[in-house]
Amino acid sequence: MDRLKDKVAIITGAAGGIGRVAAELFVKEGAKVVLADKDSENGAKAAKEICALSPNSAIFFPLDVTDKQSWGQCIEQTLNTFGKLNILINNAGVSFRETVEETTMESWQTTLAVNQTGVFLGIQSALEVMKTNGEPCAIVNTASVDGLRGDSVFFAYCATKAAVEAMTKCAALCCAENSWPIRVNAVAPGYILTPMAYEDARQNGQTIEEYCAESVKLHPIGHLGKPEDIAYAYLYLASDEASFVTGTTLAVDGGYTCR
Ligand code: NAI
Repeated sequence: MDRLKDKVAIITGAAGGIGRVAAELFVKEGAKVVLADKDSENGAKAAKEICALSPNSAIFFPLDVTDKQSWGQCIEQTLNTFGKLNILINNAGVSFRETVEETTMESWQTTLAVNQTGVFLGIQSALEVMKTNGEPCAIVNTASVDGLRGDSVFFAYCATKAAVEAMTKCAALCCAENSWPIRVNAVAPGYILTPMAYEDARQNGQTIEEYCAESVKLHPIGHLGKPEDIAYAYLYLASDEASFVTGTTLAVDGGYTCR
């Protein structure tokens, strides 16, 4: 309890999957949370459910992470509602199961826009207000085991997740060199059972059971991850417990990258 007491966080991609679970965990740990997602229906529903558990702890904002103006409006809404911003979790992401040969210009550009440009715009927009905030601040980006290892069937996705790791280091150095009170880190999840996994199974022509049976072999620990596994990593890196941690990518992957 209270690991994020008096903190204000924006979590992107919080309408479902990992982001939704992280939003509820952050509220339980004392934060006020802006659930930011382009999916207004599920995003607003999630914020309402969280407020039913803890009144006035969360709002929804209809953010498109690919749009700089939308970021500006999201941060303005955060400041108007909760008065400050301490934490940004750049969690929104998309994936297409395509090799280099299969990748179309459309899927390439969509993947880069959300997973790479979205993270860039998020970091840039948050820094603007965090650097004068006077309190410890943290940005956590979502990379992937697919940014640490190659995967022939996720060409564009791997490219963007490797970029997230690089952007994390560069932004962390920039903050440290300017003595801004902002740490920047990333989490690299292994396979987590979320709507993204169901969509990936669909794109691969598999049932979710077939998909899990195949994917589990990649994880020495013997099972896939849960959204909570990643949410707790976000929590640690966002909290002051990680005050000496910056520029790192924490693999939360059941041993996937040990091999
Ligand atoms: P998900 O598909 O369940 O949730 C992603 C959320 O991002 C959705 O709510 C979606 O509406 C939102 N989103 C997509 N485009 C957006 C945009 N332009 N603006 C705002 N929101 C947008 O995915 P999941 O599994 O929860 O993934 C969260 C993060 O974890 C992603 O960055 C993903 O790449 C990463 N990850 C997931 C893994 C998995 O196995 N599920 C493995 C490794 C990384």
